[in-house]
Amino acid sequence: MKSSLFIQTGELISSSPEDTFNYGFQLGEQLQGGEILLLSGPLGAGKTMFVKGICSALGIEQENVTSPSFTLVNPYDGRLRLYHVDLYRLDEGASAAHAVDLDDLLSDEEGVIVIEWAERMGNYPLPELVLRIAIEGDGESPRRIRIST
Ligand SMILES: Nc1ncnc2c1ncn2[C@@H]1O[C@H](COP(=O)(O)OP(=O)(O)OP(=O)(O)O)[C@@H](O)[C@H]1O
Ligand SMILES: [Mg+2]
Repeated sequence: MKSSLFIQTGELISSSPEDTFNYGFQLGEQLQGGEILLLSGPLGAGKTMFVKGICSALGIEQENVTSPSFTLVNPYDGRLRLYHVDLYRLDEGASAAHAVDLDDLLSDEEGVIVIEWAERMGNYPLPELVLRIAIEGDGESPRRIRIST
């Protein structure tokens, strides 16, 4: 059975952008396709930095990875196809999920969906294999990264 259950959950402390990148990389190495990663945390917390690490582990050029603020969804192809979504510019609620046509992304069961500002989505129904990554902290302070199912 395909499952994210083997991904280590818990709390990590990141002292630098490189740390955050590396934590993302370690998670990226374990992805098998079909996972939905919900990233939350304030502006500048390091969500995109974390996604760059994930992408790097999937063999995606991380220079191309930027918050998809204007396009809303950026698809990247690597070992797996990854959809990078950013809901920052959208209003809270189910309409955010509709605006990025999340159901269409979910129909690609082999892809990985990574959503920045996932808190904007409310309780939109999602299939299994959801991993929540909450990053606390900003500026020059260390970040607390909580990974939970
Ligand atoms: N421990 C740390 N982890 C991650 N980023 C850090 C850390 N310390 C400082 N930074 C800096 O914080 C910034 C994080 O930016 P990033 O774009 O990844 O945040 P974000 O959460 O995606 O923001 P946004 O909500 O605007 O999309 C970078 O400039 C990075 O250098
Ligand atoms: Mg970002």
